[in-house]
Amino acid sequence: PAPSSADIGVTGMGVMGRNLARNLARHEHRVAIHNRTASKTEDVMDQFGDEGTFVPSESLEDFVSSLTPPRVAIVMVQAGAATDAVIDDLADLLDEGDIIVDAGNALFTDTRRREAALKERGLHFVGCGVSGGEEGALWGPSIMPGGSADSYKRLGPMLESISAHVDGEPCCTHVGEDGAGHFVKMVHNGIEYADMQVIGEAYDLLRRGLGLTPAEISEIFAEWNKGDLDSYLMEVSTEVLRQVDAETGKPLVDIIVDQAGQKGTGMWTVQTALDLAVPVTGIGEATFARGLSSAVVQRDAAADFEGIADEWNIADRDAFIEDVRQALYASKIIAYSQGFNEIQAAATEYGWDISLADMARIWRDGCIIRARFLGDVTKAYDKNPELPLLLADEYFYNAVKTALPHWRRVVSLAALHGVPAPVFSSSLSYYDGVRADRLPAALIQGQRDYFGAHTYKRVDKEGTFHTLWATEE
Ligand code: ATR
Repeated sequence: PAPSSADIGVTGMGVMGRNLARNLARHEHRVAIHNRTASKTEDVMDQFGDEGTFVPSESLEDFVSSLTPPRVAIVMVQAGAATDAVIDDLADLLDEGDIIVDAGNALFTDTRRREAALKERGLHFVGCGVSGGEEGALWGPSIMPGGSADSYKRLGPMLESISAHVDGEPCCTHVGEDGAGHFVKMVHNGIEYADMQVIGEAYDLLRRGLGLTPAEISEIFAEWNKGDLDSYLMEVSTEVLRQVDAETGKPLVDIIVDQAGQKGTGMWTVQTALDLAVPVTGIGEATFARGLSSAVVQRDAAADFEGIADEWNIADRDAFIEDVRQALYASKIIAYSQGFNEIQAAATEYGWDISLADMARIWRDGCIIRARFLGDVTKAYDKNPELPLLLADEYFYNAVKTALPHWRRVVSLAALHGVPAPVFSSSLSYYDGVRADRLPAALIQGQRDYFGAHTYKRVDKEGTFHTLWATEE
């Protein structure tokens, strides 16, 4: 390839890498492409070479020299050791001021470590979240780049050009320094877990409570998808529920083994939330629910345990459907509120200047959690960037207040009839906890002081106190 003939490069021609490269080429960027195994690069040229200007290289050396300085090289290989190996090789070939972009799903602490090491060598390292799956990468993902503000000047316009757009605004912004981009991508995925689980709980309750078929529930979801719950995941659920298995003629959802998989981003979100002491109960319960579904040994052992006493006997079908819809909506608001709190806490901890309004804005389209709802979240944080929790915004508070009687009814019915609703019920507990005038935490402080002399504070004066507890012999 001719030296300096490409604007940007992508190494790693797996599905995500080639789709990002094709998206860039379609937007008139000259794209250098490379893959460890050269045949994959040839494949891309054979299949898609006429979609734009690609500059293929067999060696990483040629790939680097085909880039126009300051060079921008996107790494799209497997997270972990492979990413480290490719970054090391690239760093040896690049010059001061060049930019390495990791567009994989790296853990933000790895990104922070890599960024610090490469900065010492005069290189920019941008951990960049990309959401939207394969189709998103090709047609317009939501893009969450971290790294230096300086690197965004060179990189940002190219990424913005290939991202999804809402009302002409790109679903891409500079999130914050070093690992901020991968951090918010992680929380995005955690929120996605909660979003999927609340839809699952609604489905389960409608099915068991009303004896509806998956196809009937699909129709209800299609209706919900026209209102506040309008989202990509609701649309996906509608499609999945109406799918009939070709072999058996049964609803496909009844043929699929009910054990949810996970790749770890939900778990990271929860682990990190524990480190930051932010209660992300919605994401946490959603992650644990996947774990429970796959805990085959325990499920087998418990399969004959006593369940419900009462039979379902819902008199007003439509009222129950509305109860469930409201419970879903309220639980979703709680889960997002908690996820945004986690971003807020990390921004303080790591010194990132993250605009929560911008995060909601770039998630309105392109990504898996895209939804009408995120337009309302954007408005809430635009109005008050310091919002302590999403529910403190009038619009969302009113929504939750309206949902409250419905939500309480659904959670109690679920408990009475033995239907697990971990995110619905824990979200309601969070709501009741966060609004409580007094919490039993006072007793816990007393307990801690009793057995460990951990001291406590008083409601009526300043200071720290310890009681000489009267102990029996
Ligand atoms: P997909 O499933 O999306 O096609 P994949 O098969 O997981 O993606 O491959 C991801 C990319 O990581 C591939 O481009 C792979 O290169 P090869 O085609 O040569 O296998 C790349 N990759 C994985 N480990 C790598 C390593 N240690 N060094 C360089 N590239 C690596």
